[in-house]
Amino acid sequence: MSNRRPKVQCRATPVHLHRMKIENDLILRAARGEQTERVPVWVMRQAGRILAEYRATRAQAGSFINLLKNPDLACEVTIQPVDILGVDAAILFSDILVIPEAMGLPYRMDEGKGPSFENTIQTAADVDRLSTEHVLENLTYVFDAISAIKRNLHNRVPLIGFAGAPWTIFCYMVEGRGSKTFSASRAMLSANPELAHRLLRKITDATIAYLNQQINSGCNMVQLFDSWAGILNKDTYNTFALPYIQEICEAVNTVPMTVFAKGAFFSLEEMGALPCRTLGIDWHTSPEFARKAAGPDKTLQGNLDPAVLYGNDEFIVKETKRMLEAFGPQRYIANLGHGVYPDINHEKLKLFIQTVQAYQFNRS
Ligand code: CP3
Repeated sequence: MSNRRPKVQCRATPVHLHRMKIENDLILRAARGEQTERVPVWVMRQAGRILAEYRATRAQAGSFINLLKNPDLACEVTIQPVDILGVDAAILFSDILVIPEAMGLPYRMDEGKGPSFENTIQTAADVDRLSTEHVLENLTYVFDAISAIKRNLHNRVPLIGFAGAPWTIFCYMVEGRGSKTFSASRAMLSANPELAHRLLRKITDATIAYLNQQINSGCNMVQLFDSWAGILNKDTYNTFALPYIQEICEAVNTVPMTVFAKGAFFSLEEMGALPCRTLGIDWHTSPEFARKAAGPDKTLQGNLDPAVLYGNDEFIVKETKRMLEAFGPQRYIANLGHGVYPDINHEKLKLFIQTVQAYQFNRS
């Protein structure tokens, strides 16, 4: 199994040679479907407000956007969870909304209110004004952060890069802010599907260039976040979201890819056919259902309900072990079913991580 893929990878840039020497590569091996001696674990939003050290660095930067645009500080907060929590991977500190900004649609991040855009996309002229030409130039700060992280992480664990999936980015561009229903975005799918496809096309092109440049800069694995998958139905998801994800998987193929489509249990079978290594599973979806729907060739990642971490230690350990038994020892990367909530005591998150890392399966 292990000699099947790396051939192409080994011959590429020195960065790829670099990748061969990662000390703890459990996550990469699990993603490729290779045997792992224990289940690896990382946590969505591990680099964030849950850590006092993050809050201090963010205060030093002055704002969230200043923080992610400063490669040295972004590097610092990316590595914090590796040192403090002991996770098996680092994830680039950035945001999915850097792509709209790089295409000409800047965003704000207001404390307690989340992201917002002053201008949104409503018409063909709005789509035409978006530019994919300078996306990589405009995102130099991300690639500089990746280089700094690679230098300072010393290949202890893999570095995960990421982007928003086209449908989720589309939602923010059309709506201009978070929403419970994203009804303006769904309205465009019904009222002007052709315009919707034109916008999705542009986002997809930018995302492919962006992810490949993250990999060139040193990311060892990438994840697509389709956070708003669950507000579509099977038909609309398969029409407006999956074909673009498929294209991204095909075009970004030199490192393992994870597709995390939150709430899209209805399309898990179709996702089983995507040319990606790993599927992220949310906490609404049972491990048994996910294994069956995704088929034997996918590694699964997830899916503890983040709210379990509000429970006492005994409860956290019990639920974590239940999750591990349900997914099984191989083709599996432990994680939460969505990002960790910022008011969770980080010792509780550490307990989750250590329970995974110490777990021995009873193989009779
Ligand atoms: O540790 C990590 O996971 C890496 C960093 C990361 C962030 N955002 C940092 C962040 C990642 C991978 C993301 C992805 C992201 N951003 C998603 C997809 C994942 C998901 O949650 O579904 C989405 C939808 C966004 C957009 C976004 N960014 C929202 C809606 C918000 C506000 C909500 C919130 O948690 O405050 C953000 C802000 C954000 N992105 C923070 C962090 C650490 C909090 C900012 C702060 O106050 O410091």
